[in-house]
Amino acid sequence: MALAGSASPDSNSPMSQVDINTAHNPVLIYGATGGIGQATARTLHARGYPLHLCGRDEAALRQVAGEVAAGYTVGDVTDRAVLAKATESAGPELAGLVFAVGTLQLKPLGRVTLDDFLTDFTVNAAAAALAIQAAVPALKKNPEPSSVVLYSSVAASMGFRFHSSIAMAKGAVEGLTRTLAAELAPSIRVNAVAPSLTQTALAAPLLRNDKAVAQLGAAHPMRRLGAAADVAALTTTLIGPESGWITGQVIGVDGGRSTVAAG
Ligand SMILES: NC(=O)c1ccc[n+]([C@@H]2O[C@H](COP(=O)([O-])OP(=O)(O)OC[C@H]3O[C@@H](n4cnc5c(N)ncnc54)[C@H](OP(=O)(O)O)[C@@H]3O)[C@@H](O)[C@H]2O)c1
Repeated sequence: MALAGSASPDSNSPMSQVDINTAHNPVLIYGATGGIGQATARTLHARGYPLHLCGRDEAALRQVAGEVAAGYTVGDVTDRAVLAKATESAGPELAGLVFAVGTLQLKPLGRVTLDDFLTDFTVNAAAAALAIQAAVPALKKNPEPSSVVLYSSVAASMGFRFHSSIAMAKGAVEGLTRTLAAELAPSIRVNAVAPSLTQTALAAPLLRNDKAVAQLGAAHPMRRLGAAADVAALTTTLIGPESGWITGQVIGVDGGRSTVAAG
């Protein structure tokens, strides 16, 4: 069941010093307890956007919400009642929606089950589509074109072993990005960010020790792994009006991995 709540700014937090620009409508962030979701909440808050956060872990969500003076809704994105509740609680007009929810199940094809495929597709792609569907009326009420940011992966455009399920799901996210950009223009822009390995809980199983971090970082032309702040920076730019002529794009934040030889 979805629980709605709100938190007051913590007067000891550095973020409480931010002069919030009430001219912005709110941005609704799904996956707000995750690495990229949290980093995005902080950068959007610093830019003066009011926020409404959604996630499954109420204690973690309350902590992030307190830091960025946001309201929040607790629940699973595969529950349409949660999507409806989060959208309603976020407010009647929305400047943006960020869907920073994801899964990662890496298995050789022989061990992937139909349930694995369906879980990855449902959480990464179908839930994103339904979250946008619920928010379209509020996104359309924003006085300027509003902005949706989805997340693909470098694994949708490059082949990596054991990524069949997530690569298929993120391929669906890229198709969704382009089709909704067409369907919702000119009132709503829709773009996707495609990270390579970024140091969050999602990638932790691949980054078990310093050797793995060094080796995988070296596979990138920029010779390091991504940080959540790298992805949050582009997300914040895509939400902002400075990106008003960008829609239907899938943009890599990947240390050059998808297009540049590592050397
Ligand atoms: N990190 C990377 O290397 C990487 C690479 C390529 C793409 N991406 C994409 O970037 C986006 C953000 O990922 P991240 O790195 O920030 O991962 P993360 O730290 O693991 O965060 C993922 C978030 O998704 C939430 N989530 C998962 N399943 C959910 C469900 N059924 N209902 C509600 N929330 C759910 C998690 O909530 P809980 O805490 O409750 O589980 C968490 O808040 C994802 O779309 C991911 O696929 C990440």
